[in-house]
Amino acid sequence: MTEIRIPASREYSVWIRRGLLDRAGERVAAVTGARRAALVGDERVLSLHGARAKASLEAAGLETAVCSFPGGEQGKTLETYGAVMNFLAERRLERTDVLVALGGGVTGDLGGFAAATYQRGMRLAQIPTTLLAAVDSSVGGKTGVDLAWGKNLCGCFYQPDLVLCDPEVLTTLPPEVFRDGCAEVIKYGLLGSEEFFHSLESTPVESQLETVIARCVAMKRDIVAEDEFDLGRRQLLNLGHTVGHAVEARSRYSVSHGCAVSIGMAVVARGAAAMGICSGDTAEAVVRLLRRYGLPTETAYSGRELYEAALSDKKIRGGKLHLVVPEAIGRCRVMTMEPEKLRDWLEAGGVKWM
Ligand SMILES: NC(=O)c1ccc[n+]([C@@H]2O[C@H](COP(=O)([O-])OP(=O)(O)OC[C@H]3O[C@@H](n4cnc5c(N)ncnc54)[C@H](O)[C@@H]3O)[C@@H](O)[C@H]2O)c1
Ligand SMILES: [Zn+2]
Repeated sequence: MTEIRIPASREYSVWIRRGLLDRAGERVAAVTGARRAALVGDERVLSLHGARAKASLEAAGLETAVCSFPGGEQGKTLETYGAVMNFLAERRLERTDVLVALGGGVTGDLGGFAAATYQRGMRLAQIPTTLLAAVDSSVGGKTGVDLAWGKNLCGCFYQPDLVLCDPEVLTTLPPEVFRDGCAEVIKYGLLGSEEFFHSLESTPVESQLETVIARCVAMKRDIVAEDEFDLGRRQLLNLGHTVGHAVEARSRYSVSHGCAVSIGMAVVARGAAAMGICSGDTAEAVVRLLRRYGLPTETAYSGRELYEAALSDKKIRGGKLHLVVPEAIGRCRVMTMEPEKLRDWLEAGGVKWM
């Protein structure tokens, strides 16, 4: 079993092991001391893995109620949040009881936000079931839901009591959802470790899941530890996301997050090479690895369309743009620039203006 200790305003551990789902109850009971659990998940995940999770919680003496919601990003709303809150209240759960979020990033964000706000904060266990949730969203304490005005606009920072990650659970993922997670994994390699990046070239993610998750969680821990509340260094995690978000928004979210981030990484890598910030070999290695995982590295949108989509983002418009740029494999820097400069970066990155 791998244990990674996360030093945040509330310290907690991420445990990673095959078959851990069947032992989840023991850990949740031991760490939280809870008497009752609300097992929260989307319908699909609960139909695949809910029974095992529930049996494990009950075997550890936790009285368990199951709260399901329709899956997908469209489930990450105030309405679903309200339904989860009412579910907790109706069953008279207490602050000392635990909410177990079993699922991908949607469940983690929604369940985390419900746990953070129910009676001003109840115990929280995250059990990520997508690669993205395992390597990214279950760690770091960001929780929340979407508003009609934009993604993640309503939320707060709330650290879980524990995170339990069972790589076997990821084997039921549809290939395209798994592939999306691979884009984030490659992001960690490009950000923080040349050796890890090369290991992704020689050994597929699916054949080294436990190691991959542990490496990514440790890298996220190190970045978040210096900037829990996202005021500086945490921006590094946005590698590929500035252009990626523009692609996602322009496609009205028909391009998945992982595919959009992949395009975003390829564009900044090519742009950095064209501007002499990294070598041409570095950019080529990035594009090659993304393609090896079946991820896209080109976009059909014009530079103009992406530029307009990026500048309609309230976080960018009117302020400075923080673009994360590779210097070499395993090393990136945050460049602060006028938002208008994005146009040059798109063009240098091979996206035609018109
Ligand atoms: N909190 C953070 O720091 C953070 C970081 C990155 C992303 N996010 C959020 O994460 C969300 C995306 O997460 P996601 O990609 O995991 O999406 P998701 O939770 O919607 O899961 C994707 C799909 O996979 C299905 N699924 C999940 N686990 C499965 C399994 N083991 N087997 C079969 N199917 C399974 C789900 O039912 C869903 O249809 C976004 O809302 C994003 O904003 C949060
Ligand atoms: Zn992402």
